[in-house]
Amino acid sequence: MPETDTNTFYVTTPIYYVNDKPHLGHVYTTTVADVVARYHRLKGDDTFFLTGVDEHAAKVSDKAAEHGLTPQAWADQNAAAFKETFDKLDLQYDDFVRTSSDHHKAKVTEYVAALLKSGDVYEGEYTGWYDAGQEEYVPENKAKDNDYKSEVNGKPLVKKAEKNYFFKLSAYRDELLAHFEKHPEFVQPDARRNEIVNRIKEAQDVPISRTGSGGWGIPVPGDEEQTIYVWIDALFNYLTYVDMDGRRHYWQSGATHFIAKDILWFHAAIWPALLLALRKCEGFSDWHGLGELALPKQVYSHSYWVSESGEKMSKSLGNFLDPAAIDNYVAEFGLDALRYFLATRGPLGTTDSAFSPDLFIETYNADLANTFGNSASRVSNMIGKYFGGFAPDHTATIFAEIDSDAILDESVAQAALVVASRNFEKCVLDFASHAGMLCVSTVDRHIEQTAPFKLAKDESKLPEVGTILYNCAEALRIASVLLWPFIPHKVEDFWRRIGCGHYAEALADHGHGDLDAWVQWGQLKPGTPIEKGDPLFPRYQVEKK
Ligand code: MSP
Repeated sequence: MPETDTNTFYVTTPIYYVNDKPHLGHVYTTTVADVVARYHRLKGDDTFFLTGVDEHAAKVSDKAAEHGLTPQAWADQNAAAFKETFDKLDLQYDDFVRTSSDHHKAKVTEYVAALLKSGDVYEGEYTGWYDAGQEEYVPENKAKDNDYKSEVNGKPLVKKAEKNYFFKLSAYRDELLAHFEKHPEFVQPDARRNEIVNRIKEAQDVPISRTGSGGWGIPVPGDEEQTIYVWIDALFNYLTYVDMDGRRHYWQSGATHFIAKDILWFHAAIWPALLLALRKCEGFSDWHGLGELALPKQVYSHSYWVSESGEKMSKSLGNFLDPAAIDNYVAEFGLDALRYFLATRGPLGTTDSAFSPDLFIETYNADLANTFGNSASRVSNMIGKYFGGFAPDHTATIFAEIDSDAILDESVAQAALVVASRNFEKCVLDFASHAGMLCVSTVDRHIEQTAPFKLAKDESKLPEVGTILYNCAEALRIASVLLWPFIPHKVEDFWRRIGCGHYAEALADHGHGDLDAWVQWGQLKPGTPIEKGDPLFPRYQVEKK
């Protein structure tokens, strides 16, 4: 158990279907979760970051059959591909879900058995529409509105009539609505809340099992002919993987679920309703002595990456950036450049983002090469030239007139910390990155207005130059701490160059930082060797056609 004064943070991504290899959309959500998880580790929170794969879908067994493999063998291959992609990108998850794992299967069976016993799951018959691509039952009115085609991939819906077990979602309408009322931050961004609230008002019971899955799935306890519907099996992952000794406090602290808008209904309505139902079952009202089973803290539903022509990037549409294309970006620009672009220019809000190579290069050059990278080189070069590569003293007075937005002192550090923290907490990552970047542009303005390279021509002014450069280096150190969740590898290089390698050591292997202490002004010790090193982000030259 964590110490009582430690905050706990639990963050998840969707678990991804293993019918195929990963693509940029999957990498995106996992990167966003990784940036947010790193912020919490940096801050010292007891953090748990879960990602993984969703295996028991019909499209997985169908694809396996096409390749002459068992569903498990096909799932194993693709699960390994997801893991490999995430590992290559140094996405530091704490565990990787496999819904075919014994632990997950046993826990899901336990939960469904409890729901059957409580009466919230009952036997019935389903006749209606099914979207096979989304593995989703579609209500008649929604099917009709979309001309009986999938809202996502446009393929015709399939008519289904089967014996099912149903979950009494309709019995939880009022409790769900009350939860939304009491916790307006439950669904983010705000603009997405209304559509869910309106749909909850009319929510009907939902099937939670399927027949004819060919044995691929978790059997319904007591009825071997039925398997638990893949979505119910999948949603439970968020709980099963922390329903073990040493992890349950993560669940009770409230999960933050990152997902895309197409699966918001499952996460914002069905999932909390299942938990409300489970809470009433024996053993869950005081769950392992930790109190009533908690509901998630937040469901953050982002929009899509779309191709430049505006279509959703997806495997079935064949317009996605696959692992090979992702590798190319990493080889050309580095891992951190891809992370930075995804996290700060991606569709976290309510609008889709086009993945444009031109915008990628523009962002790389503007923020990473010309701002952070350039400022770090400039300052370390001058420290090398005028002070032999050692952080100078900073006791001399600066005589230059400096505009208020170019002053470098404690107030810059404090303001940057406030802006970064507020936006990281709200998962507004572009604004969170601005805090560090604004600190860097203040350094640039400070250099322009104080002109240390001119002052240095007069030896008597070297102490003043020293103070200027010390302040610049100190502001860059603070900016780098705030930028670490976005560009951890380059920032760690930078830390090693300025005598702060111990930050990197503290954060290695899912370790913890001390954000508040590290952004205190004045910690860089005069006399510390400051290495110049290669440019952190070399400028990318666009070839003229
Ligand atoms: N298996 C379900 C989720 C179960 S969670 C309990 C599923 N899997 S999926 O493989 O289709 O992955 C969907 C998720 O991948 C989206 O919610 C989103 O996080 C990510 N993305 C897939 N395509 C995307 C884009 N084009 N753009 C942004 N994110 C995308 O649904």
